[in-house]
Amino acid sequence: MLLGFFSIYNKNANELSEALENYVGEDASDLSIIFARSMMDTATETTMGKSLDTGHKLDLLPQYQICLKALILQMTRPWFQIDFLFKFHNLYEPVKRAVLIIRKTIYTFIEVNLKELENNEGLENNEESQKPMIFIKQALKLFQENKFTLEDVFNESNTIIVGAIETTSTAIHNTIFCLAEHTEFQEKLFAEIMAVIPDDVEITYKHLLNMPYLTMTINESLRLLPPIMFTTREASDIFQIKDDSWVPKGAQFMISIYHIQRNKKYWGPKAEEYDPDNFSDENVAQRNPNAFLPFSKGVRNCIGMRYAQFALKVTLVKLIRKYKFTTDHKLKNLVIIPNITMHFKDIPKLKVTLR
Ligand code: HEM
Repeated sequence: MLLGFFSIYNKNANELSEALENYVGEDASDLSIIFARSMMDTATETTMGKSLDTGHKLDLLPQYQICLKALILQMTRPWFQIDFLFKFHNLYEPVKRAVLIIRKTIYTFIEVNLKELENNEGLENNEESQKPMIFIKQALKLFQENKFTLEDVFNESNTIIVGAIETTSTAIHNTIFCLAEHTEFQEKLFAEIMAVIPDDVEITYKHLLNMPYLTMTINESLRLLPPIMFTTREASDIFQIKDDSWVPKGAQFMISIYHIQRNKKYWGPKAEEYDPDNFSDENVAQRNPNAFLPFSKGVRNCIGMRYAQFALKVTLVKLIRKYKFTTDHKLKNLVIIPNITMHFKDIPKLKVTLR
C-alpha cells in the first residue's frame, strides 16, 4: 500500500520545493509552518484523496493545531477535562468550532469516497498499478463488509492525520536544521543524492534502497531531536530498574525517548553532537538496539513508521538536491519544550540558497 503513496510524497515534496523559492536570498527564516503545511497535505491526501470538486487544497492544519493545544492543556491541567470547567477556558469555543470543521470535512470526504466505491471507482489495485489506494477507501471497504461503522471510518481517518502531521513536520524541519548546522554532512548527503538520482526525476522506493547516508542523517536527527519525546506503559509484571529500585506490576510509567537517545552509556562521550556516523552499520551492530526508539518499540509502537520514513526521505532528497540550507543557530543552545511533540522556545531560523 505504501508504495502507492510515492506519487503523493513526490508531488507534495515538489510543491514544497517550489514554495521555498520565495525564501531564496532572503534573511534566515522560520520555515516550520511551510513544512507543517506540506506534511498536512500529504497526510490529508493519503488519507482522504486530493480534494473535493473545488480543486482547492484542504487546510485543516489550523483546526488540528487548536485541538492539539487543548489536548496539551487537558493533559497538564486535568481539571480542564471536565466539560463544565473547560467551558470557562478561552480555548473552549475555538476547539468546538475546530472539531465541527474537522468532522464536517472528513464526513464530506466519506460521502464522496463511498459514492465512488459504490460506482466501483477508485478500486485500482495499487500493488500492480502503483496508484494510491487512499486510507479512507480501505476503511470504507470494511464499512461495506459491515466490519466498521461510519464513525469508525471517521475515527481511523482522524487518527492517521493527527498521528502524521506534527511528527513528520517536526522531523523534516529538525533534520534540515541539523544539516544546516553541519554543512559538511549536508554536502555528503548531496553527493549521495547526485550519485543515485542525477536527474530530478520521481523518487522511487528503489532509489531509497541505495541511499544509506540519507537514512543515517534522518536517524541521527530523530535521535537527538525525537518528535515524540516520551512514551508511557503499564508494567505487566514487576521488574527491576536499578539495584534498589523496582517497578511494581500494574504501575504506569513514562519512558523518556529523549534521554535514552542522548545517554552517554550508549552513545559515547559525544552523545549530544550530531553525527550521522552513529548509524553506520558497524556502530549500529555494536549498540543496544533499544537505545534508539523514536517510533517506540513493541506491540504498541508507531503504526506510521514506514509511511513517515518514506515521506521524510522523498522530501529531504527533493530539497537537498535543489537548495543548500544554513543556520546561525546551534543545536546545543536550543531550548527544548517537551509537549506531546517536541517544540523549541525559539524556532531556529534557516537560510535557503539555490545550488
Ligand atoms: C517521524 C514521524 C513519527 C514519529 C517520530 C512517530 C512516533 C510515534 C511514537 C513514539 C508513538 C508512541 C508509540 C508507543 O507508545 O509505543 C507513536 C504512535 C502512533 N503513531 Fe507515530 N510517529 C511518526 C509518524 C506517524 C505517522 C506518519 C502516522 C500515521 C500515518 C503515525 C501514527 C501513529 C499512531 C496511530 C500511533 C498510536 C499507535 C498505538 O497507540 O497503537 N505516526 N508514533
